[in-house]
Amino acid sequence: MMNKLNNKLHMKYTLLIVAVLCAYTTNSLSANNLKKSDKYNSKLFNIGKTASKQEIAGWDIDVRPDGHGLPEGGATASEGEELYDEKCASCHGSFGEGQGRWPILAGGEDSLTEERPEKTVGSFWPYASTLWDYINRAMPYTAPKSLTPDEVYAISAYVLYLNEIVEDDFVLTDSNLASVKMPNEENFYIDDRPDSTNTRCMKNCKNPADIEVVQSLAGITPDQEKAPAGKVPKTAASLSKLAIQGKATYQSSCFVCHDSGIAGAPKISDKDDWDKRIEPGLDQLVIHAIKGYSGNTGIMPPKGGNLSLSDEQVTNAVHYMIEAK
Ligand code: HEC
Ligand code: HEC
Repeated sequence: MMNKLNNKLHMKYTLLIVAVLCAYTTNSLSANNLKKSDKYNSKLFNIGKTASKQEIAGWDIDVRPDGHGLPEGGATASEGEELYDEKCASCHGSFGEGQGRWPILAGGEDSLTEERPEKTVGSFWPYASTLWDYINRAMPYTAPKSLTPDEVYAISAYVLYLNEIVEDDFVLTDSNLASVKMPNEENFYIDDRPDSTNTRCMKNCKNPADIEVVQSLAGITPDQEKAPAGKVPKTAASLSKLAIQGKATYQSSCFVCHDSGIAGAPKISDKDDWDKRIEPGLDQLVIHAIKGYSGNTGIMPPKGGNLSLSDEQVTNAVHYMIEAK
């Protein structure tokens, strides 16, 4: 009897202790009760350790376009010449022209709109701070973080000099680096295009089942060939309604082969080829596109290999191809 009571009491206390412990831990861990500093306090979870100021400083080395983050110091471009020749020229060339296939650091002005733009510090980079930051954190390639701040100022000034942005006696310092005007800065702008071009529908919306998601390769793969001189690309206005509807399908599922003519596919721009192919009639072309076709030049897979396309979509794509040729 006595024993039983003892046991019961014991149980009661044990339960009470467990309950108190639970309340305590949930309380101390609940996000609401955490002070902001505690949230990052590793001791709470007994893992890791708090980074010291010195350790943080070792990682916190970024330099911003306004010069924020630059350490005190300065040097002239001339002072950078010898350092550059010793530590950088073996890869980047004495004039920043790039040895072999190592990156080019200077030149390339006015090349950005060309077929093969030459993007260098001078022709492309918008801010001088990037140059300082990049050299400081990553160069020389085989010994990053080995340069003193003054050496980084000297070499940065020299690379700017190679790009004809500063004179050889220009003293680049932490207080004037942000004011160095880079030639291409104006061509950078905040891209404020919305993530989606669609407007949100709030009422009388389309049936989701009818909505078709298409993607386009246009603008991602460089054009293989420019339109021949004097030939103006077809605009939407000159296309039939079916062709306009087929354009997206063409670009997502047919473009890959028919734009460049790979694997024996007739090029969309090869008018003579299409004039011959259409002789037996448009219907036959459509059937070949839907069912697939193996003629004299290669294999046209059914629906271009995209069997999720409806017959109508493929038909419209053929209209587009015929009209856009
Ligand atoms: C052993 C070869 C080598 C040496 C030496 C070297 N670099 Fe580089 N550098 C590279 C490579 C490789 C890259 C490209 C790295 C990447 O894209 O990840 C590069 C990139 C750069 C870039 C960026 C170029 C761009 O347009 O993206 C700059 C600026 C640069 N280096 C400056 C220097 C400076 C200054 C020195 C001397 C202190 C130096 N490099 C020494 C190999 C080298
Ligand atoms: C994987 C490559 C490839 C893709 C993708 C592709 N085609 Fe083709 N297509 C071909 C080849 C190759 C031929 C030429 C076959 C021959 O004549 O031997 C061809 C021929 C054609 C022809 C001409 C048929 C004829 O009778 O001469 C049409 C029309 C056509 N494709 C439409 C399309 C449409 C529409 C799409 C997209 C839905 C598409 N193709 C996607 C490779 C492709």
